[in-house]
Amino acid sequence: MSFLSATLSRVKPSPSIAISTLAGELKAQGRDIIGLSAGEPDFDTPQNIKDAAVAAIAAGKTKYTAPDGIPELKEAICAKMKRDHGLTYMPNQVSVGTGGKQTLYNALMATLNPGDEVIIPAPYWVSYPDMVLLAGGTPVAVEATLENSFKLTPEQLEAAITPNTKWFIFNSPSNPSGAGYSRAELKALTDVLMRHPHVWVMTDDMYEHLVFDGFEFCTPAEVEPGLYERTLTCNGVSKAYAMTGWRIGYAAGPEHLIAAMRKVQSQSTSNPCSISQWAAVEALNGPQDFIAENNVAFKRRRDLVVSALNAIDGITCPTPEGAFYVYPSIAGLIGKTSPKGTVIADDEAFATALLAEQDVAVVFGAAFGLSPNFRVSYATSDEALVEACRRIKSFCDSLS
Ligand SMILES: Cc1ncc(COP(=O)(O)O)c(C=O)c1O
Repeated sequence: MSFLSATLSRVKPSPSIAISTLAGELKAQGRDIIGLSAGEPDFDTPQNIKDAAVAAIAAGKTKYTAPDGIPELKEAICAKMKRDHGLTYMPNQVSVGTGGKQTLYNALMATLNPGDEVIIPAPYWVSYPDMVLLAGGTPVAVEATLENSFKLTPEQLEAAITPNTKWFIFNSPSNPSGAGYSRAELKALTDVLMRHPHVWVMTDDMYEHLVFDGFEFCTPAEVEPGLYERTLTCNGVSKAYAMTGWRIGYAAGPEHLIAAMRKVQSQSTSNPCSISQWAAVEALNGPQDFIAENNVAFKRRRDLVVSALNAIDGITCPTPEGAFYVYPSIAGLIGKTSPKGTVIADDEAFATALLAEQDVAVVFGAAFGLSPNFRVSYATSDEALVEACRRIKSFCDSLS
């Protein structure tokens, strides 16, 4: 009899965390590694948010809280949903978790039964399929191709829906492609969902604020109010507020679903960190102007990376609407051989050889369910990006 659970054997560890860990280890050994694999802003958490956390400690707000969030944070989330999307939620329709990851996980744990299918457009954030598997459901990946700017078409969504479909996971702007759906593109998808009342929508709006060139972010329940009763709108402070380590995410949706998620959380982590919750109150209620300032840097870096990668023979890199990732295709390099004799059979071989031979860490496309591609996180300095692109070019040019 196996000591480890059968469920766990269906799940793989996060490849992006594994590559970032390996890159960190090589760096510690003295190698000049440029890491483009981590999904976190290089900016520091704004001072007013840090100050709110310090004040919370000083005021003794250091005890257990309600399992799914302090009332002040729930109120701030309700105000944010109204302000940004015109959506009305009451505090009992809001759940706060230990990072966006936990709220998504709670929702899947609270709702999935064996046989339930979850539609996930690929390329997807690495954790969606594995969280579905952990919760006992069946992930159904549908490839959104480079030709369609990594966006799912309404026809593809329609074709993927079966009587067993429980959730459709939607993520715009996307990790890993950065693709953002326009209002019209999203409406075409929600029109499909309106024809299938048994399908619920889990929208992951984590990169909502990180958009460029005047792109208008919108979320399913605001585009199609008819979906309000079966939409869970998930978000968090990790990316826009540079608060990845604070671990606060949240979701808003129907009260019965939020209550079920609370039950999962109360029997696992109890409550998100009290101090981080007070910091998140300040993040959501405080000044928002630094987001636009950070976006100026992110856009400059996106443009730098897209043009440098497109200048490389064998690489095609679309310009995404948001997030801080690009997802270039290496279709033109497959089958070539590196100077050290590695055959670039697939994107994993490419990423492994790039790290070994040029000290650049990227995440291979197979991890995100769409190949042959790799993900670059450009949340690092312009200098590091210029040098990384130089090394990637030198590596690609050296392939024969
Ligand atoms: C699309 C997406 N959703 C959720 C998360 C999780 O965010 P958190 O760090 O708040 O758990 C991430 C983090 O990489 C992400 O990229």
